[in-house]
Amino acid sequence: MAKSTLSFVCQNCGAAYNRWQGKCESCGEWNTLAEEDTSGSVPVSIRSKRKGRTFALESLSGKTQGAPRLSSGMAEFDRVTGGGFVRGSVLLVGGDPGIGKSTLLTQATSMMARAGHRAVYISGEEAVAQVRLRAERLGLADAPVQLASETSVEDIVSTLSEGAVPRLIVIDSIQTMWTDTVESAPGTVTQVRASAQALIRFAKKTGATIILVGHVTKDGQIAGPRVVEHMVDAVLSFEGEGSQQFRILRSAKNRFGATDEIGVFEMTGLGLREVTNPSELFLSERDLGSPGTAVFAGIEGTRPVLVELQALVAPTSLGTPRRAVVGWDPSRLSMVLAVLEAHCGVKLSGHDVYLNVAGGLRIQEPAADMAAAAALVSSLVNAPLPTDAVYFGEISLSGAIRPVAQTPARLKEATKLGFGRAILPESARGEPGGDAGLALNSIGNLATLVAEIAARGTPRGNRGTARADPGTPRGDPGAGSADPAEKNATPARFRRDIG
Ligand code: TYD
Ligand code: MG
Repeated sequence: MAKSTLSFVCQNCGAAYNRWQGKCESCGEWNTLAEEDTSGSVPVSIRSKRKGRTFALESLSGKTQGAPRLSSGMAEFDRVTGGGFVRGSVLLVGGDPGIGKSTLLTQATSMMARAGHRAVYISGEEAVAQVRLRAERLGLADAPVQLASETSVEDIVSTLSEGAVPRLIVIDSIQTMWTDTVESAPGTVTQVRASAQALIRFAKKTGATIILVGHVTKDGQIAGPRVVEHMVDAVLSFEGEGSQQFRILRSAKNRFGATDEIGVFEMTGLGLREVTNPSELFLSERDLGSPGTAVFAGIEGTRPVLVELQALVAPTSLGTPRRAVVGWDPSRLSMVLAVLEAHCGVKLSGHDVYLNVAGGLRIQEPAADMAAAAALVSSLVNAPLPTDAVYFGEISLSGAIRPVAQTPARLKEATKLGFGRAILPESARGEPGGDAGLALNSIGNLATLVAEIAARGTPRGNRGTARADPGTPRGDPGAGSADPAEKNATPARFRRDIG
């Protein structure tokens, strides 16, 4: 072994320093430097001064024996990987402790094994008996999975090099693995990186698919080495609210598929059950008829998903009002609030605002703007929105509602789930799908939407809040008009109410 070289390595991003310091200059994290022996982190074979061998260069159009994908036996898992496991690919699955990573992968390996493929499950965290216990509970004890409790990468690689090439290998977890080639302790960045490298080499050489389980730190990053994320072909995260049954598998990076697909599962007493129609699940606990909730017709990847947005707008007792959002982008919320204030006369600077996406889903689409705005205004004026309506549309800074993609798919899903009308951007009118059986209410401007909702409102004074305005309800409670002339048509009562 070469003489030891001690460095201080950031356990978050992998940057190395000669001296200890409080803050990592590379990623900005505090207190993440730990002393590690990095002398062997470059494999001996690379360090030696051997003469390079020559290799053949290929053309792009050459024939490659198909990139066959193999189904995991779970349609929701396949959806996220882009249609199954690609030969020789390495996936990293991250998630909070106890979220169900081991359960998911035990189920996937069992399905593969039952389909006649060699599937191996290596646990570095649990004893064989514990893994067996879980399999028994899942009713999978009879699946011919090859199981071991091991942590040495060299031993694993030599064992798996014998016999038929395994089709799927699960390593649970990469943080528990260690390799002889480096001297740092297991779990350190150097070790995790070197172990991952060795396993990735094995996958590329043999064509086996390897799934690495990665732990997630308190702030939601895959613990330690972000570097592993760059080395693997796909990074999937398994998410869910602790109190809820839903689990969502999402891909953050995928060299062989789209990254916006989600797989939805439900944790039951018998393991993870696939949820083929997530909208039904997300809407199953709807609070019908209460103010502040709007159903958003969204798209996750290729699939439409209906989900409820819940808002609470309440007078604040703080100097700086609170803005809290779960499941949506906080800066998007700030933008919607600013547009409401600037173009619709809705003053929210004296109110705390809370916004929540029901069911633990995380929405990234700008199309959710209109549903969020509807929920916020509905809560502010204490006016329940129609229970049979779905909302979608992007709000521009000028207050205009901009059209969004895949309108027909959104409308079709809403019809399927029994909704009667859609509040949508103006130019989506007449698009195919308009005959989906829904009444379409196209809105050109956010002010129109605000006016329509305000017209349904009951005075807040009745609820004993700070607002004392007795209000005269507007003559026309029918929220059907989409007259562009109504731009900035916030009713006088409403202006006073919220001013
Ligand atoms: P596990 O897969 O061990 O989580 P991870 O590997 O991500 O740490 O799952 C642990 C949780 O899942 C545990 O709290 C119990 C729950 N669970 C069920 O509800 N049903 C089941 O059938 C199984 C196996 C686990
Ligand atoms: Mg586990």
